Amino acid sequence: MNVYDSARMAEILAPLGYAPGNDPEAADMVILNTCHIREKASEKVYSELGRLRKVKDRRALDGAAPMVIAVAGCVAQAEGEEMLRRAPFVDIVLGPQAYHRLPEMVARAHRAGARGDGNGGVLDTEFPIDSKFDHLPDRPAASGASAFLSIQEGCDKFCTFCVVPYTRGAEFSRPVEQILEEARQLVDGGVRELTLLGQNVNAYHGRDPMGCEAGLGSLVQRLAGIDGLARIRYTTSHPRDVDAELIAAHGTIDALMPFLHLPVQSGSDRILEAMNRGHDVAHYMGIVSDLRSARPDLALSCDFIVGFPGETDADFEATLDLVRAVGYAHAYSFKYSPRPGTPAAGLPRQVSETEKEERLARLQALLEEQQSKFNADTVGRDLDVLFERPGRHAGQLVGRTPYNQAVHVTTDDHQIGDLALVAIASARPHSLDGRVLDLNCARPRKDSEERLSA
Ligand code: 5AD
Ligand code: SF4
Repeated sequence: MNVYDSARMAEILAPLGYAPGNDPEAADMVILNTCHIREKASEKVYSELGRLRKVKDRRALDGAAPMVIAVAGCVAQAEGEEMLRRAPFVDIVLGPQAYHRLPEMVARAHRAGARGDGNGGVLDTEFPIDSKFDHLPDRPAASGASAFLSIQEGCDKFCTFCVVPYTRGAEFSRPVEQILEEARQLVDGGVRELTLLGQNVNAYHGRDPMGCEAGLGSLVQRLAGIDGLARIRYTTSHPRDVDAELIAAHGTIDALMPFLHLPVQSGSDRILEAMNRGHDVAHYMGIVSDLRSARPDLALSCDFIVGFPGETDADFEATLDLVRAVGYAHAYSFKYSPRPGTPAAGLPRQVSETEKEERLARLQALLEEQQSKFNADTVGRDLDVLFERPGRHAGQLVGRTPYNQAVHVTTDDHQIGDLALVAIASARPHSLDGRVLDLNCARPRKDSEERLSA
């Protein structure tokens, strides 16, 4: 979601003459879009700010235009005023629900002049009544073959380990028509795959033009009707919000990719309860089974936390059992990181760092083994691949299979945005190599359709 938010911040600043750049030394403004989910991510912000301060000072000494430093995202939201105190050379601190007001804040920062003096930076960490999405500009063309689209934000679930409900705010769903319009703009600009985003994406319940509530299954159905949109994905889902309509969508909508990120966090009922996840292992396994009945080739991805307070060896073994029972194509796993202000941070029986590291290593070894096996099992199959970017070598393209695996091919006949049938020739732990099967595009583009009919 931060990638999406960063792109939208760049878009909203474009009319002011700003364009994205890669070199902070040459930048008139630097925005750090920050993550607060674990301590490590948060800590990085201040070390990065230390580096930027030196660049800002150097520019001032050289007589160059003053550099504006903005900190956006969840660390900005959580720290607010404290950030301006701790890093007085920061010009703007803005929360994730306020970035549509960035142009105004930049103007205020400029009015305040080349600061660096600690005299009051611009702060905006309000959760506004009106949605930022009502104020963002149209999506520009050329967003690539695959794009993110935020449909839902915030969270009301309050898992005891998580800062999201505090930093992103209450759950909010964008209206159906607004999402369809943004999707159409992206597809008109060449996008062929959309990943719908939300902290709790399948809690989506936006209003349609008739004023009725639409769930995620219904939204996906409507998006699938957009001509030229070949693939739809969504992330991140919660097991409690997988409803019958969504399960059915997986069975009936071709454009909905057979790859689902469905975090469970732990395989122990006791720990799930302490995490306030609102479901047990049996519920999760039931959903996995229903989804696989609807879409037998569905591959799953997951998030896990090891070392939640009070997690015993037996609880951890239960997580390993769950992983063995489900079989994942991909997963993220983390050591529990106590976050200030969350209920779990104050729980007794915190697990030692050594114990967390040992558990994480064992879990990751198992998950790596499953991912390697999943990749190896695709060798010999012919899969649809959407080409997304050039590879490192001449004539090489990198694309993704329906299961989100990266595939390298060498071809002169295809370009970014093409969907082609690819024979998977070999597998590495994190990517595949393949050979394009001639012009047998699984879903021909308009120009190849014309060529075929000619
Ligand atoms: N410690 C470790 N991992 C966390 N996550 C969220 N909060 C924490 C925390 N305090 C993980 C969860 C979530 C993912 C986005 O980050 O696994 O699904
Ligand atoms: Fe955090 Fe997800 Fe739980 Fe919401 S559902 S509190 S975002 S882990």
